[in-house]
This record gives sequence, C-alpha cells and structure tokens, in this order.
Amino acid sequence: MYFNNAATTWPKPEIVYETVDECFRNLNSPDRTHSAEGMQSSATMQTCRSEVAEFLGIQNESRLVFLPSCTYALNLAILGQNWQAGDVILLSGLEHHAVSRPIRKLAREHGVHFKTIQYQKNRPVDLDWVESELKTGKVKMLASTMAANVTGDILPSVDLGRLCQQYDVRYLVDAAQSAGVLPVDVEELNADFLTFAGHKGLFGPPGIGGLFVREGIQLETLAEGGTGKDSGRHDMSGSFPSNFEVGTHNLLAITGLCAGVRWVKQAGLDEIRKHENRLLTAFCEKMSDLPGINLFGSEDLTLRTSVCSFTIDGTSPQKIAKWLSEEHGISTRAGYHCAPLAHETIGTLPGEGTIRFSFGFSNTMDEVVKVTDMLHEFAQLPTA
Ligand SMILES: Cc1ncc(COP(=O)(O)O)c(C=O)c1O
Repeated sequence: MYFNNAATTWPKPEIVYETVDECFRNLNSPDRTHSAEGMQSSATMQTCRSEVAEFLGIQNESRLVFLPSCTYALNLAILGQNWQAGDVILLSGLEHHAVSRPIRKLAREHGVHFKTIQYQKNRPVDLDWVESELKTGKVKMLASTMAANVTGDILPSVDLGRLCQQYDVRYLVDAAQSAGVLPVDVEELNADFLTFAGHKGLFGPPGIGGLFVREGIQLETLAEGGTGKDSGRHDMSGSFPSNFEVGTHNLLAITGLCAGVRWVKQAGLDEIRKHENRLLTAFCEKMSDLPGINLFGSEDLTLRTSVCSFTIDGTSPQKIAKWLSEEHGISTRAGYHCAPLAHETIGTLPGEGTIRFSFGFSNTMDEVVKVTDMLHEFAQLPTA
C-alpha cells in the first residue's frame, strides 16, 4: 500500500508509461535534429507546451518554461529577479524548502528581508495581517503555496492574488501540491509566477516541472548554454521560453507529463478530488478516536488536499513509519517533509515532525480501513 502521493504519485496511469516508452524509442531531441524524427520531436514538444499551458490557464504558451523540477522553477523565479537591499518578501508559514531556501539565500546575500504570514489552525493565512503589511509599501513579492505539503491546508490563493494586484506586489504561487488536485488558473489567481511539479498530481515522471512568468516580467538566467535556438549568437537571446530551457530537453518527461495532464482531464479533477477526499475523511474519522492522537491541518476537510499529518503522544513518527514499512510493507513519510518552517508553524519542530499519509487516485477505501486498523493495533503494542 502506497500512501506517499504528496511526495510523488504512484503508480502512474498506464498511458503515461506507454507514452514515455514510445517517446524514448521513436523521438529524439527537439530543435536539434535535421530528420523526420527531429521535426516530430519539436512538434511534439510544442503540442505538450500548448496542452499544459491550456490546463493551467496560461494564454501565451511561450511564457511557460519547462524546467527539470518545481524546485528549479522556484529558484529561477526567486533568484532571477532584481532585488535591492531592504526589499521585503512575505511567505506563508507552510512553505517548502524549495521556496524558503532561495528566499533565505536572498536574505543572506542581498539584504532582502522576509516575513512569515501568521498562521492559526483552521486559518492558515491571516489576510488582514497580509493587507497591513502590503500597505507599508515595502513588500516586493508574496510567495505562497496553494496547498501545504505537510498539513494539506488549501490556502486562500485567489484572495492573496487580489491583494497583491491591489497593492502592486509580485505574486509567486507554488502549485506543486495543487496542479492536478485543484483547479489552477494563472489568470484567476492573478499570479505573476506559478510553478508546478510534473510528477505529483499531474502523474508525469520525475525530471520535469515548469514555471509561468507573466508577460512584461524579465528574469535573469540561472544557467546558460545551448537552447537549440539562435545558435549563431554568443549570448543568450533573452526570449521566452528558450532563454531558460538550456541543454537538451527531457522530452521523455515532457511527453509523460502531457500524457498525465490528458489523463487528469479525462478522469476529471472533480472526480479525483471527490475520491481522495472520501479517503481522507474516512482516515481522519477512524484516527480521531485513537488515544493520544494529534491531527494537524484544518478541521474542515473540504479545505484540505488528501494529506493527513499526525503524531501520537508517547511514540515517534519515525517509529510508526518504520513499523508500517517493515511489518506491513506500507509506504508513508515521517519527519519534516523538507518543510521545517511548516513544522515550526504547527509546533512539531522542535520535535520529530509528523507522520504523513497522502492519498492518491489509486488508493481504495479497503486500504484505508486496513491501515487504520493497523494503526490502532500499533497503539496497543507495549513497544509502541
Ligand atoms: C509545496 C512543495 N513545493 C515544492 C516542492 C518541490 O518539488 P520537486 O521536489 O518536484 O522539485 C514540493 C515537493 O514535495 C512541494 O511539496
């Protein structure tokens, strides 16, 4: 049983495996080969770009940059901007390292300040506090995940976008945990930057993520090299998206991502969400009467993705995860989930973090019943 879908979804829909295999056998490198396969490779990448852009509400597909991961995309969006000492960045209290570490680098190296948005259980973002900060005129960017990887909390991303527009502040949305899980539309969000991971809710393989950059915003490159375009120039062309897509494209991952997006569209976001929410609700209900249980995240499960993080008094998250894995072959994730800020926010750092269950489309109610019974059994063990 696999309950670690917030890390990466698994298994993938069969069509994703088939598409990647077919691409590996029949296509090669876009924009670099003078042959029928080369032309077909370039055309395929273009189709994938259009389809992924459309799925995210991106009207000008050239503003969608394919990158090796969501982490890389966040680094480019954050480190590629022009910063002045004293600029302020607001970030939610639930951010992943992929957001918080590049921001900390800016603070260390450029004198940028950052402030964490106040959090309460059942209200992950204090919008009044955000507005009072934006009114100071010092905030240059607000960075926020749409959904937290530790608690599953869904943040009020549209409200944040509205505030950023009102106060003319750049808005960076991390959709790693929401693309393929919730509706994501860069226009509705009023996002200036939006990043996503291909291998999570979009069911693609690892090795692909993406960045949307609103028209009119320029970014510095993080890496320079061949793009397959403007080959006779010594310097980078500056044009989107090729300026940032250096090195041979990972067409296997791009086609796999596109197959995943098609699959999600066909299955229906609503259907996927309903199924995963039913599993989450059953899991949380069955766990809530376990003695010593501490469940994190909003109590209103309609404001959560399919993530449930918890601790049990008197035992460690790692011990529970080890027992599930070794005794029953069950995959979960225990610890800090690359998000110590989020653990500080919810009070599990200092401490040993939480054990996290994250349900996916392939999980069943039968699995939820079995694993919650096992967790009750674990709690009874003298060695627990
Ligand atoms: C909220 C969030 N942002 C960013 C990332 C980074 O994604 P990746 O590891 O695919 O680069 C993750 C991965 O878990 C995440 O959960």
